[in-house]
Amino acid sequence: MQHYQTVFKDALPYGIVVGVSLPPDGAAPDEQVLQKLHPDERIAASAHRGFRLASFVGGRLAAHGAIQGLGGPFTALHSDTRGAPVPPEGTSLSITHKRRMAIAIAARSELGVLGLDLEDLEPERPGIAKRILRAEEQERIERLPPERQWTAIVLRFSIKEAIYKALAPKLQRYIGFEEASVALHTDGHANIDLHLTSGPTPEHIEARFMWMERAVLSTVRVRW
Ligand SMILES: CC(C)(COP(=O)(O)OP(=O)(O)OC[C@H]1O[C@@H](n2cnc3c(N)ncnc32)[C@H](O)[C@@H]1OP(=O)(O)O)[C@@H](O)C(=O)NCCC(=O)NCCS
Repeated sequence: MQHYQTVFKDALPYGIVVGVSLPPDGAAPDEQVLQKLHPDERIAASAHRGFRLASFVGGRLAAHGAIQGLGGPFTALHSDTRGAPVPPEGTSLSITHKRRMAIAIAARSELGVLGLDLEDLEPERPGIAKRILRAEEQERIERLPPERQWTAIVLRFSIKEAIYKALAPKLQRYIGFEEASVALHTDGHANIDLHLTSGPTPEHIEARFMWMERAVLSTVRVRW
């Protein structure tokens, strides 16, 4: 199978989503792939090696695909000082990657600021619960049958990372996992209660999640 290829492009409720396949062994992109990046991004890519090079390149390719899907311009997608991708004026953008895939979402910024996160369902890591859940979330999970607990944990983890990506560009600080409480609904959306310790609070925050092959993809949209 060829890698660094677009494997899906879809219009989801919060924006255009593009997925790019990554080589599971971290094989470096060839010159033909690198030529699809903006020259400034090629310079940024040259600082990376192995899986980080693959994920950086795949993420930028996915992001350009999503922005192009909106009819947006081809500009260099730099990273801000905290690591957030800087989209073209008037656009909101978020990127996520795991070993096999890089995914990006883009939408017009007037619709809100986006956060995207992909999490693998396997291997199960229930030990993360203590680090990422608030007490009321932990209580809800303990009431679930044991076989449903891990998905309830990993979904919250994914949504919280997407919350971070949506809020961090404005708050410009680390946001702890205890600063949000997530309640899941079976129809694929989630309610979020923010408990921010400092900085402005958004007017509106919403989240959706969808199952992918052995993974979950979460999207958060925030309006200030
Ligand atoms: C930053 C963080 C969310 C990234 O998530 P991850 O699962 O490690 O990695 P992902 O592949 O999903 O995402 C990486 C992408 O996130 C984006 N990103 C990184 N920092 C970001 C920031 N401050 N704001 C927005 N997006 C950011 C980048 O696009 C990055 O990819 P790139 O460097 O190739 O451009 C995570 O490492 C982290 O620090 N989490 C702790 C904070 C948190 O989640 N708090 C919960 C608040 S409720």
